[in-house]
Amino acid sequence: MPTEWIWLNGKTLPLSEARIGVEDRGFQFADGVYEVIRLYNGVPFTLAEHLQRLVRSAAAIDIALPLDVDKLDREIRNSIAQQRAGEGMIYLQLTRGCAPRNHVIPADISATLLFYFRPLPPVAMAGRGKGARIVSVPDERWKRCWIKSIALLPNILAKTQAVSGGYDEAVFIDDDIVTECSASNLFVVMNGALVTHPVGPKVLPGITRAVLLELARELGIVVEERPIRQVEAMAAAEIFITSTTREITWVKSWNDKPAGGERCGPVTLALHQAFQERVRNDTKGIPTSSVIAKSA
Ligand code: PDD
Repeated sequence: MPTEWIWLNGKTLPLSEARIGVEDRGFQFADGVYEVIRLYNGVPFTLAEHLQRLVRSAAAIDIALPLDVDKLDREIRNSIAQQRAGEGMIYLQLTRGCAPRNHVIPADISATLLFYFRPLPPVAMAGRGKGARIVSVPDERWKRCWIKSIALLPNILAKTQAVSGGYDEAVFIDDDIVTECSASNLFVVMNGALVTHPVGPKVLPGITRAVLLELARELGIVVEERPIRQVEAMAAAEIFITSTTREITWVKSWNDKPAGGERCGPVTLALHQAFQERVRNDTKGIPTSSVIAKSA
């Protein structure tokens, strides 16, 4: 098993040797934020957008990034090149740091920042993947879901409940409105329009979501960002979910009922093809060696 490396507060070391203090506030209070960035062919996709969201999340809970975004961008790219990372993801976490346990945020504390690479299998070609079976759960999360917080207890409980029931993803329902899923955004196609809940208190501004909305507009697809009732969404012609790690997954059943026509519909297919085209354009032709040369 090759050594897995981690970048921790400016130092690179084997993941198995990395240590975080017991009183790190990320560990004790989930006082932190994170990002998951997909790597294709050793190139991080939409890295700038992920780092912008990290900055917004960190600012929302008043954590200062310990290094500026351009430097962090370079550190990530250097690290990918050094490790010859190919297909996979970067997990990045920023916590407030270590201090004697106290609910009150200490004034003088330095943040803990880390990231590491994890290989992932390539995503299936558009239209080829298996459809997802999704199940509704009550949305019991807080009202600042636009912050990519590491406090994911409602999400992990919902996802685990879904998976142990034989489903692939849990859909949060807030007072009969479909918000998003435990680790993905949800879209439906109704009367030819692409509909998804607006980002904000109950919906994370997904990076995949943003790329898709842009592509939809380029393809001339009508886009509506509005709340959708569960019954309306379940009857939609097409349904799909999006995230960095899965790109687009079409939905075939919802609460055990056939949904979204039980197929990857034409709008979903066109969007996924456009997305994969965007990925190919943005991540092609940068061999690892030139990344090293550029960042050296
Ligand atoms: N999750 N909504 C939630 C609650 C999420 O956790 C995620 C992603 C998304 C999709 O966001 P993006 O397109 O930026 O990945 C929406 C990541 C992948 C995770 O927690 O592993």
